Amino acid sequence: MTTTVPWRFHQADVLQLPFETAAFDVALATQVYEYVADIDAALQELVRVMKPGAQVLLVDTDWESCVWACRDEARMRRMMQGWSQHIPHPQLPRTLVQRMQRAGLVDVQVHTIPLLNMEYSTDTFSGGMMGFIASFVSGLPDYGPQLVADWQADVTSMAQAGGYFFSLNRYVFVARKP
Ligand SMILES: C[S@@+](CC[C@H](N)C(=O)[O-])C[C@H]1O[C@@H](n2cnc3c(N)ncnc32)[C@H](O)[C@@H]1O
Repeated sequence: MTTTVPWRFHQADVLQLPFETAAFDVALATQVYEYVADIDAALQELVRVMKPGAQVLLVDTDWESCVWACRDEARMRRMMQGWSQHIPHPQLPRTLVQRMQRAGLVDVQVHTIPLLNMEYSTDTFSGGMMGFIASFVSGLPDYGPQLVADWQADVTSMAQAGGYFFSLNRYVFVARKP
């Protein structure tokens, strides 16, 4: 016999979740907390709505784990510095264990999900991200469309030479509320 559990979607700010205290058995967020400036307040709000014993799983990326083959390494570093401005916490994973513990979570475990693209295609993660990065960075002061176009040409030309390589780590944090 199967049991049907009623469920529904809500859209809300993680800083003000419209739920009662101790309402949920499980919480999950992928690529959300790195976008929230006051992350410690957001984690406290998350813990508030979890039941005692509830589990949480968070996924976030550290863009400094990015390895992207190119000919002009200085330009690549500059592009990645520009891209890191698209969120308030571009290196969140390295501080997230302590932040989760400070919010009251225990048994924090960390795992990695490596993304690896050995060929260039717009269907891959890196091929898709290239457009987002180009669009964001070209709008920054002191960047501009030519630098961004040269960067794209550099990276994609690695594929023509058979040397395309992209790797990025996503980090998975699992913990529970005591
Ligand atoms: C990169 S997207 C990730 C979307 C999806 N979770 C995924 O993994 O594909 C970042 C998400 O964070 C959400 N977000 C950013 N700040 C938020 C906040 N203060 N409260 C709730 N969601 C927020 C955005 O609406 C967006 O959907």
